[in-house]
Amino acid sequence: MRSAIGVAALFAVGLLGGGAAWAAGADAPAPASSQASASTDLKSEGPTQPAKVQDGQYSDKNGDPTYHIADGGKKVDWYTMSGYLRYNANCIVCHGPDGMGSTYAPSLVDALKGMDYAHFAGIVVGGKKDVNASQELVMPAFGENRNVMCYMPDIYTYLRARSDGALGRNRPPEHEPKPAAFEKAEDACMK
Ligand code: HEC
Repeated sequence: MRSAIGVAALFAVGLLGGGAAWAAGADAPAPASSQASASTDLKSEGPTQPAKVQDGQYSDKNGDPTYHIADGGKKVDWYTMSGYLRYNANCIVCHGPDGMGSTYAPSLVDALKGMDYAHFAGIVVGGKKDVNASQELVMPAFGENRNVMCYMPDIYTYLRARSDGALGRNRPPEHEPKPAAFEKAEDACMK
């Protein structure tokens, strides 16, 4: 029997970039003088607005991953861009273009309103089955799929931006550069 537990437990909260921070509790103070950790506190102006950025990954006051969109909606952080690509590779077939939903699966633009990261990750890892629907609706479990598990914060970040109305439909025109920490964590996760 193959076990999903190992991968699921390892990756449920995301390993990329500042991923360790989600697991460890996001408010572990970062040494201000350290160049290497590149963590900066920001003034958060709302529940989904960034309170911190570390290695190009933004997080809100609760330590959940969040988006950073500048230049009047045109330029997105790297994780939003990556999430857009991963969404289109793994989720679009059921949830429709730009998270808008389909006749089979619900709109994630609506579903993400107020859904925290842990809840989201739990559904994506373990799946979900609507037993009451006349048509049987099944959200597959992605716990063993590295193409999803290694990019969990990215997909959440992208959908959060869509859900908040901060990001329009289609591919974001510009994005921040890929952080070196992202590339390193990606290599380690996909191995
Ligand atoms: C094979 C089709 C399919 C694929 C692929 C799929 N989903 Fe789903 N998803 C569903 C269905 C159907 C539901 C509704 C299940 C229910 O209501 O019980 C759902 C529900 C969800 C929910 C819960 C929504 C809510 O309102 O509670 C989330 C979050 C979600 N999907 C995220 C994703 C993400 C992220 C991906 C890509 C990594 C993805 N899904 C890929 C079919 C799919």
